[in-house]
Amino acid sequence: MYIVCITGASGAIYGIRLIEELKKRTGSPITLIMSRWGLQVIINEVDPQYRRKIMKLIDQYYIDTELDAEIASGGSKFRAVIIAPCSMKTLSDIAHGRASNLITRVTDVALKENRKVIIVPRETPIDYIHIRNMLLAKKRGITIIQPSPAFYNKPQTIEDIVNHIIGKILDHLEIEHNLYRPWRMMRGHGTDKNEEY
Ligand SMILES: Cc1cc2nc3c(=O)[nH]c(=O)nc-3n(C[C@H](O)[C@H](O)[C@H](O)COP(=O)(O)O)c2cc1C
Repeated sequence: MYIVCITGASGAIYGIRLIEELKKRTGSPITLIMSRWGLQVIINEVDPQYRRKIMKLIDQYYIDTELDAEIASGGSKFRAVIIAPCSMKTLSDIAHGRASNLITRVTDVALKENRKVIIVPRETPIDYIHIRNMLLAKKRGITIIQPSPAFYNKPQTIEDIVNHIIGKILDHLEIEHNLYRPWRMMRGHGTDKNEEY
């Protein structure tokens, strides 16, 4: 089972596309946890039809106040927790081990049980404290995948840009995919003096 958490940072689409790809490529059960502000942002950013479609793909759904959920215990055998997008507030909580809601609690559980935690922190620009919290999160063993897409693939759509980040998450979960094309230098690239830029 994978646990996908959506918090109140912009970019709910990352969590949604991740759920679609995890379901398609692993068939594993998926639990979705939404924070109060995650719900607010998703309503603003994502089309209602698409939201309904995603709810049909998940196996369990919680809001972050449900701390008595089974997954809040180390006895629950989930594989990984992915927080996408991750707000600076949730980043701060997980950097400091503050398990005050179900999202930060399952993160704590995953870390103490040596399971994978991936976050997609989203804010710009970032302040000193955000950088320090990322450092603390990294020291706790959390994988940080910023939503910074590459442009060598020449993305044409928002989906192309989002897919690159979802592909990076799947790479770290060791799940095969074809969501982005890895960089490969083209023969002669950069040597043609007559090429127009
Ligand atoms: C429309 C909207 C967009 C937001 N975008 C961000 C963002 O990109 N990054 C961020 O750290 N906080 C953002 N926030 C603020 C968070 O929602 C707020 O800090 C909240 O307390 C996060 O709580 P949560 O982590 O429990 O979801 C946004 C809020 C709103 C209403």
